[in-house]
Amino acid sequence: MAKDPVRVLVTGAAGQIGYALVPMIARGIMLGADQPVILHMLDIPPAAEALNGVKMELVDAAFPLLKGVVATTDAVEACTGVNVAVMVGGFPRKEGMERKDVMSKNVSIYKSQASALEKHAAANCKVLVVANPANTNALILKEFAPSIPEKNITCLTRLDHNRALGQISERLNVQVSDVKNVIIWGNHSSTQYPDVNHASVKTPAGEKPVRELVADDEWLNSEFITTVQQRGAAIIKARKFSSALSAASSACDHIRDWVLGTPEGTWVSMGVYSDGSYNVPSGLIYSFPVTCKNGEWSIVQGLSIDELSRKKLDLTAQELSEEKALAYSCLS
Ligand code: NAD
Ligand code: LMR
Repeated sequence: MAKDPVRVLVTGAAGQIGYALVPMIARGIMLGADQPVILHMLDIPPAAEALNGVKMELVDAAFPLLKGVVATTDAVEACTGVNVAVMVGGFPRKEGMERKDVMSKNVSIYKSQASALEKHAAANCKVLVVANPANTNALILKEFAPSIPEKNITCLTRLDHNRALGQISERLNVQVSDVKNVIIWGNHSSTQYPDVNHASVKTPAGEKPVRELVADDEWLNSEFITTVQQRGAAIIKARKFSSALSAASSACDHIRDWVLGTPEGTWVSMGVYSDGSYNVPSGLIYSFPVTCKNGEWSIVQGLSIDELSRKKLDLTAQELSEEKALAYSCLS
């Protein structure tokens, strides 16, 4: 029997990530090839005509799984009945801009959209915040949508996770699908800590630790980390716009694994509400290694954290605490 359609909200749908993301959702890349979807697309009035153009293209593409499209500038209409909300709308960082410069604009957007989601989304709606500063926007959304379970509010660090997999695969000249269990700790910013201490590669002789195969701690502890940390800025420098196709694809990976589960023995990175695991202060949206089962994520416990890693986990937590304070100062 055909499944009932799932309603998926994409805010900022007329923007660059939105334009890459909505066809992926309509093709079943986010929720599965047998899962019909109804797309809810929100943007702001100046983008209304462009949004309507995206809707026209969705119709023209005749996606078999796409059972309806709501394209609107009204947040209540956009949020009504949605099961999954991908929050891409916001003010993007441009070349030379610090992420903190865009904080105050995004805090007010996330405060008002939190209320619309809380009142009008379906029960148990899963929320993924993509727009920067992603962790702190998600935290603001959580604070102003108190009836949405905190486990349902997450932010995107899967792009950083995928970037780390990509760098290891290039360095070792192996398939990216054979690399697993990197970790992104902390903020989706240049203080994030891409950690390969528990990562491995599938080889004909079995799984081998990334550190053993790379055999260059100097590269792993410096250039690899900064390359992943700075990749977003490098894309902006090259394209003059922030990453879009990789962000959209990673947003699909994030929701797919959350809803459908992570493969046995594999974890992914998600920005989630911290509970004090790994001595990360509670009350932050912080990226952890997680596994997902039955639509729920759980932080992977018991991983050893060496001294270098400890410092890096604390540094990115410190930045998130400062962002949190700055966000709250924008509210008053
Ligand atoms: P974009 O400027 O092309 O699109 C943003 C869209 O949001 C625009 O269409 C704009 O009109 C819309 N918008 C603005 N305010 C809105 C509101 N209040 N409600 C609904 N829509 C609104 O930007 P983009 O390149 O698509 O990037 C979107 C965001 O994602 C940026 O904040 C960017 O920094 C961030 N980003 C995050 C990651 C990540 O990994 N977390 C990766 C790439 C980009
Ligand atoms: C990215 O990681 O590509 C983006 O978050 C960069 C940005 O600041 O928009």
